[in-house]
Amino acid sequence: MSGKIYLVGFGPGAEEHMSYRAKSAISDADIVIGYTTYIKLVKDLLVDKEVIKKGMTEEIDRCIEAYEHAKLGKKVALISSGDIGVYGMAGPTYEVLLKSGWTPDSEISVEVIPGSTALSACASLVGAPLTHDFCSISLSDLLTPWPVISRRLEAAAKADFVIALYNPKSGRRVQQIVEAQRILLNYRSPETPVAIVKSAYRRRQMIQLVRLDQMSDCDIGMLTTVLIGNSSTYVEQGLMITPRGYANKYETLTGETKAGEQAGRSLTMGLEGWESCLRRYLAENPVKTLEKVADYFGVSLGEVLEAVAGGEAGDYKATRITDDKINEVLKQAKNWGKLRGIVRAEAGTVTELFLQADEFKHRGEWLNVENPYFHCHINWENVKAAYFSSREQHSYSVNFIDYLGRLVFRVSLIKQEGQFNPELLAHYHHAWNDLSQKGNQ
Ligand SMILES: C[S@@+](CC[C@H](N)C(=O)[O-])C[C@H]1O[C@@H](n2cnc3c(N)ncnc32)[C@H](O)[C@@H]1O
Repeated sequence: MSGKIYLVGFGPGAEEHMSYRAKSAISDADIVIGYTTYIKLVKDLLVDKEVIKKGMTEEIDRCIEAYEHAKLGKKVALISSGDIGVYGMAGPTYEVLLKSGWTPDSEISVEVIPGSTALSACASLVGAPLTHDFCSISLSDLLTPWPVISRRLEAAAKADFVIALYNPKSGRRVQQIVEAQRILLNYRSPETPVAIVKSAYRRRQMIQLVRLDQMSDCDIGMLTTVLIGNSSTYVEQGLMITPRGYANKYETLTGETKAGEQAGRSLTMGLEGWESCLRRYLAENPVKTLEKVADYFGVSLGEVLEAVAGGEAGDYKATRITDDKINEVLKQAKNWGKLRGIVRAEAGTVTELFLQADEFKHRGEWLNVENPYFHCHINWENVKAAYFSSREQHSYSVNFIDYLGRLVFRVSLIKQEGQFNPELLAHYHHAWNDLSQKGNQ
């Protein structure tokens, strides 16, 4: 018998924010299944319907029950607030169906009906906080381990996303929001605007506009969504705004295109613009290590080296070594005298080793450096690129980089009595010319 399952997202709560299709699906259904609170929210649409209310923990029961009724040829609407596909019942329902052998071309058809999710409903009440890149993270660790959630918070904070926090707090889960605040404050200013919206478009709607360092002290509950601004979000006249970046291209008041920019085209900065910015920074601010530049620009060491390789950067020069010559550089390093090796552990430890290139030995995927004082084992499979880099009269190095642009290993020439030995330096420059993709030393 051909039944139908409607998976209906009915929006934040108020009927006027429900889509036309959501209403017509509920109206077409013989049976409506949902969490007790959701059923109450749409009760006016349920006259003459068979209604099955379920508790919060009975999610899988709701899916199974919907399937059982659909198998009997009924039209069933499984309802959920917001968008049913966002932290909602669409996923579990498909999982139950697929495990039971259902296929999309079987007798029972399934239709997912989208709704306005909490983050857009809440954003609409506080201004325009989501007008640039954003992400959502649920702080519920009932099904997701906390370390996974905390890594996502860390990544989103680092990448300067506007962040919407779903499930920020419940009666029992009170520490997650405190911990989230701690992580975010490592990357964002304490003044970052935060909107805390409770029960959007429902009877007890409440809005608080606060700063990030006040967030965890606020009134937050199960029905709250928290919107955290990025580094350019601001509050004016009680409105939280994240600029789209029009100010980069247009004069805000007149709307005219700024000099050098074109409407409908990428900013003149383009994809490589930041690289010339980095080179100019290096030329104007010589720094001791390229790692410091990477930190300053929030990029990897590999990206710094690629940028330096791309043009004039004052005293700094770099070129990428042709990929199939990465091991050849280790052989040529035998002519560079005593070397300084640098190995960085992820947690921040930096090990400095004094070595000779004839101590390098390849064993399987490992490059071993062995002498009477230490054994160092470098996983050579992690090396995906290598770069010569120099700062005139200060440093002459080769950097071995992994696929994320992180330093695996570096060797540098050593000064003797305050000077680089010209003969050894000549061998180094010879290798640079010989093994580089393009000359720029
Ligand atoms: C299990 S998720 C369900 C999300 C829902 N499917 C959606 O798309 O909005 C529950 C969380 O959604 C957020 N939420 C749902 N309705 C809301 C509303 N009316 N106002 C504020 N937040 C809401 C809260 O963060 C709550 O903890």
